[in-house]
Amino acid sequence: MHMNKSWWLLVIVSLAVMIGFSAPYLTFDPSNSRVDVRPGSLQFPILATHILFAFAALVTGFAQFIARIRTQRPKLHRALGRIYVLGVMVSGLLALPLVGYMDDFAKATGFIALSLAWLFATWKGYRAAVRRDFAAHRVWMVRSFGITLVAVSGRVLVPVLLLTYALLHGFTLPAGREGMVADVLNVNIWAGLIVNFILVEWAVLKPKRGVR
Ligand code: HEM
Repeated sequence: MHMNKSWWLLVIVSLAVMIGFSAPYLTFDPSNSRVDVRPGSLQFPILATHILFAFAALVTGFAQFIARIRTQRPKLHRALGRIYVLGVMVSGLLALPLVGYMDDFAKATGFIALSLAWLFATWKGYRAAVRRDFAAHRVWMVRSFGITLVAVSGRVLVPVLLLTYALLHGFTLPAGREGMVADVLNVNIWAGLIVNFILVEWAVLKPKRGVR
């Protein structure tokens, strides 16, 4: 894959957004949590571990797309790939108990779908590599990383969703600003999943002309 300017922009924006969101949790101090945490519960340690492993998946995932590493440093590609798969598996599985702390049904189902899709695509990509079916490995790992990047797109889409909400309500905010933000944060994961799914299947994995 040719690394053009938009690719590097994606890397920079993704890392900047996710460093910003993750840093407070990597202090391992629950009082820095942006998410409301139930005191005395396992929610914060699970959340902080989820973020640590997800961050490892994000960084190693980006590195896997650098052609020079893949072609000239195959051992490094494999080592980073193992860290990516471990990161997704641990982080994705830990996301499931976190859903138990959510009150909103739309938000909970969005995270369940995200987590299951993440685990599934990554497992398929890993198994394909083990079987040495590198065509299938590439396709499933592109899908897997597209899902990893829902963490970014779900957050970047928040201003778009806020605007959509305001437009749909004719700029009167029936539940106030807080109600608007809460409603948007209940659906942003679904929005990110749909956008990334379309971009990956249609733009990145589109069949080459004449090839079906
Ligand atoms: C793609 C699969 C992912 C799933 C299923 C997932 C799931 C979750 C869940 C369930 C929460 C708790 C949300 C809440 O209680 O309101 C959460 C929070 C969080 N996750 Fe993930 N996550 C994923 C990917 C990532 C990635 C790749 C990162 C990158 C570092 C990440 C970083 C975070 C952060 C920073 C939070 C705290 C939220 C905040 O402060 O707004 N997640 N995630």
